[in-house]
Amino acid sequence: MMNRVALVLAVAMPGCAAPPTQTGAEPMQAFTVIAHRGAPAYLPEHTLEGAAMAHSMGADYIELDVVLTADDHLIVLHDLYLDAVTDAAERFPDRERPDGRRYAFDFTLAEVKSLRVHERTGTDGKAVFPGRFPPATGIFRIPTLQEMLALVQGLNRTTGREAGIYIEPKAPAWHRSEGKDLMAAVLAGLAGHGYRSADDKVLLQSFDMDSLLYARRELGSDLRMVQLIGENRWRESPTDFDFLQTDEGLAKTAEYAQGIGPWLPQVVDMKTFDQPDISHLIDRAHRHGLFVHAYTLRADQLPPGAGEFSDVVRTLTAIGLDGVFTDHPDRVIESLGRPGANRAPVPRK
Ligand code: G3P
Ligand code: CA
Repeated sequence: MMNRVALVLAVAMPGCAAPPTQTGAEPMQAFTVIAHRGAPAYLPEHTLEGAAMAHSMGADYIELDVVLTADDHLIVLHDLYLDAVTDAAERFPDRERPDGRRYAFDFTLAEVKSLRVHERTGTDGKAVFPGRFPPATGIFRIPTLQEMLALVQGLNRTTGREAGIYIEPKAPAWHRSEGKDLMAAVLAGLAGHGYRSADDKVLLQSFDMDSLLYARRELGSDLRMVQLIGENRWRESPTDFDFLQTDEGLAKTAEYAQGIGPWLPQVVDMKTFDQPDISHLIDRAHRHGLFVHAYTLRADQLPPGAGEFSDVVRTLTAIGLDGVFTDHPDRVIESLGRPGANRAPVPRK
């Protein structure tokens, strides 16, 4: 692995190849820019339009969250329910569950496709990120996984630059409790588009350790995997996130995954943007052979006093982070001094 000073120099000098390490090992791969749900700072999350924009910005990977519909279609949606990003409450007022939410799983694909996607709103109906895309435009729809993969692969072909897929089957244990094998469905959907092996530019991520173990050991998946790490208080999955951050947990993770995806505050002090002394999670993960991609960096949500966005990105690279999920792939790429925009291949005669 490249030492930190060399890494900072490589990042600071665009176009410079990363220098070899003292041991002569392979240079560390470049900082990975993951377009979190597309380009949600500019277009509503998980839309085809947002993914196309993220691709055009030069993101290394397009991040997708995936759930199932009532008729077993995989759709690209972050929440299990439709309410926060669509007009489902207006269109289907009587289809809520006892918790007041309309679950995508209770709707057919045709019904899902009839919904209008808008900027994410909270339970009060107000935009979660004010100032982002205007509300209620009626332009956008929820895509299927199949549509999203076809879009990205088409853009890979027409631009000559391959963006990868960074996919999260959302809440696999919940789907199982509803009688559905989401992980198997996602692997089949990926395989249908040629994403089958560790050499393919796809990363399978989950908060649920058991679901990744299931994919690796029972479904026989060869895909590269990333163990997401949250906070136990979120009740995101049955996985013990405190355990995952211990050396024992990292060693266990390294048995089935190639990387970890911690929450940014688990690897950096969000006020000072220094690596907290208590954690050193990045260094310890590296010692276990795991790369570290943290979530989620938002240029319009930096804490007061954080300084310039480009300085924050530089600090994240300097502390050894290998990549970041971001709502602003363009801003991260610009901060890294990378060219970013797609370059079409030279036309053949
Ligand atoms: O998957 C990485 C990051 O996206 C995790 O957070 O809630 O946006 O899926 P979330
Ligand atoms: Ca996600």
